Amino acid sequence: MIYSRLMGTGSYLPERQVTNEMLAQTVDTSDEWIRSRTGIAQRHIRDSSQSTSDLAYEAAQRALESAQLSADDIDLIVVATTTPDMAFPSTACLLQAKLGIRSGAPAFDIQAVCTGFLYALSVADQFIRAGTVRHALVVGAETFTDLLDWQDRNTCVLFGDGAGAVVLSAADQPGLLTTRLHADGHYAHLLAAPGKFVQGQAQGSPVVHMDGGAVFKFAVKVLDQVCREVLEEQHLSASAVDCFVPHQANIRIIDATAHKMGISLDRVVRTVSQQGNTSAASVPLALDHALRHQLLQPGQLALLAAVGGGFTWGAALLRV
Ligand code: UT7
Repeated sequence: MIYSRLMGTGSYLPERQVTNEMLAQTVDTSDEWIRSRTGIAQRHIRDSSQSTSDLAYEAAQRALESAQLSADDIDLIVVATTTPDMAFPSTACLLQAKLGIRSGAPAFDIQAVCTGFLYALSVADQFIRAGTVRHALVVGAETFTDLLDWQDRNTCVLFGDGAGAVVLSAADQPGLLTTRLHADGHYAHLLAAPGKFVQGQAQGSPVVHMDGGAVFKFAVKVLDQVCREVLEEQHLSASAVDCFVPHQANIRIIDATAHKMGISLDRVVRTVSQQGNTSAASVPLALDHALRHQLLQPGQLALLAAVGGGFTWGAALLRV
């Protein structure tokens, strides 16, 4: 049998940090409201010269370094993003060029908003287990703040930019035990940036529109469900999880899910206060944080989970 194993992780956050106090100078909000409702204290925002593939490149370089592999070893690139550099080519192709890979290895993007990294991980895992790929670079990268209306306090305080990357490699022992993905497009209207191109012109609103309360309730419901699905499939209970790595959207969603699962907060990665919601980058950023800060150690079991626009949601069990 061939399995996928995690060989390395890396992440990148743009230098510019924007605090709640800074936002409160331009929009009717307060540090107290944002912290108490979301747990967010600050977020990182890209430099005007940086695109999503630039953020992805920094994270990918760090993941390759930690995997002790060179870019030429990579034979698949999957980038999860909602904020590609351009309509096409894909951010994955642009990243491939920045990494200097000339082997002709396949590269493509995946769009599942905040669940994008779990979708990308699952797709890369299928390639590896089918025996067609040895080393896959899986990236979640976003310049999500480009999708915000900075006058809309309902959304502009919630998000940030960043990128996280992992290298998954073929192995004879399982690392990635299972992934489970879901979607229900009937909820598309609750969280969307509905703008599109028509006859060469941008049409419709390009910024994020969200029914925050409805998203919140749905998130707490399905995160718990999908986490139970992957644990049951592997005949494991929540007590076997050494580190819970949830999507970082709102500390209240994270804590409520951990509470429902019976996972104590010392086993939960909580980076949302420093980064805000970085969409597809959030789970790989949190995973890299956990490994670099020894919240997750070699041989231990991580439970990854995310939910986002679509709606999409999913979970993975990973022995690192
Ligand atoms: O990855 C998935 C992406 N999205 C999410 O995960 C978001 C999920 N939802 C949430 O995180 C929460 O629903 C929010 C943080 C968006 C809102 O928290 P809430 O506890 O659901 O807020 P609420 O509905 O109790 O409060 C809404 C009120 C409104 O005022 P009125 O109509 O009650 O007077 C808003 O106008 O809070 C007001 N409000 C704000 N006030 C100050 C909304 N945003 C702000 C703000 N500052 N930034």
